[in-house]
Amino acid sequence: MDGTPTEPLVLVTGGSGYVGGRLVPLLERLPVRVRCLARDPAQLRPRVGPATEVVKGDVLAPGSLDAALRGVHTAYYLVHLMSDAADFAARDRDAAANFADAAERAGVRRIVYLGGLGDAADPDLSPHLRSRHEVGRVLRASGVETLELRASMVVGAGSLSFQLVRSLTERLPVMLCPRWLATPAQPIAVDDVLAYLVAARDRPPGASRVIEVGGADVVSYGGLIREYARQRGLWRLLIPVPVLTPYLSGLWLALVTPTQFAVGRHLIEGLRNPTVVRDKSALDLFPAIRPVGVSEAMRRALAEPSA
Ligand SMILES: NC(=O)c1ccc[n+]([C@@H]2O[C@H](COP(=O)([O-])OP(=O)(O)OC[C@H]3O[C@@H](n4cnc5c(N)ncnc54)[C@H](OP(=O)(O)O)[C@@H]3O)[C@@H](O)[C@H]2O)c1
Repeated sequence: MDGTPTEPLVLVTGGSGYVGGRLVPLLERLPVRVRCLARDPAQLRPRVGPATEVVKGDVLAPGSLDAALRGVHTAYYLVHLMSDAADFAARDRDAAANFADAAERAGVRRIVYLGGLGDAADPDLSPHLRSRHEVGRVLRASGVETLELRASMVVGAGSLSFQLVRSLTERLPVMLCPRWLATPAQPIAVDDVLAYLVAARDRPPGASRVIEVGGADVVSYGGLIREYARQRGLWRLLIPVPVLTPYLSGLWLALVTPTQFAVGRHLIEGLRNPTVVRDKSALDLFPAIRPVGVSEAMRRALAEPSA
């Protein structure tokens, strides 16, 4: 025994976020060493297990990434830049390129990235969803095997997109709803996303690929709002209007907190785009994972402590 650790090292970026924060405890139960990259390590440290390493890093500061990626086998990219800047797509791209370059230099074997569904061929695809796809492309271009899981809304108490549905439904008995009320989505329970993320680490080595993941139901946003209201015992009237005016959009966003505002704006823009699984190969690649439908996902989200 020379004291060299033999368990693979897994890096989690976005460990202070919702999905990353839920992933870390699951990884901590596996025979792996866990390292988190955080912009503010002191804030993350109390939220992870004692054996988990927390290193300071910022995906927009390339010099901070080499040390974080050293010795890493699998790196999770669960970063969402909080930016309302017009150049958010450029920042997303720079961040992904910095991370990809550093991962390649460090000899990382696999990157697992959680991005967004949406049809890349749709000329009306929102800048937010287009940027999420571009992040995947940039990561793949590193040459490091990249598994890009693409999801619609993650249903869980701390998920910003779910919080938008919650804020709206809790606070507005009568909603003037734009056209996108009818847009189909395939929301996925956070437990199922986490199961895919954990299982992605165990896939045999292979080529980079995009894997579309979704819950058992395809549902419109109007349907989601109605299901939320049903489970909470709320009476809600949804009145369709033809367009989402800036005034209406602003009114809705006034219901979310200021820190959520920037990302919320991009998320609302993306609601006009269908986010439905078209390539169902995830069900064959991960036969042990059978995602639940919307009602069950929502029931669990409402039972989470912060809901
Ligand atoms: N939630 C959903 O419904 C949903 C749906 C589909 C896909 N996804 C994808 O899942 C991933 C995680 O989403 P989430 O909902 O967990 O997001 P989140 O809660 O907003 O967390 C974002 C994370 O990114 C980190 N981050 C931001 N800027 C950074 C930087 N410059 N350097 C390093 N870290 C930085 C944040 O750290 P700080 O604490 O330092 O800010 C935070 O940990 C994203 O890629 C998102 O696109 C989410």
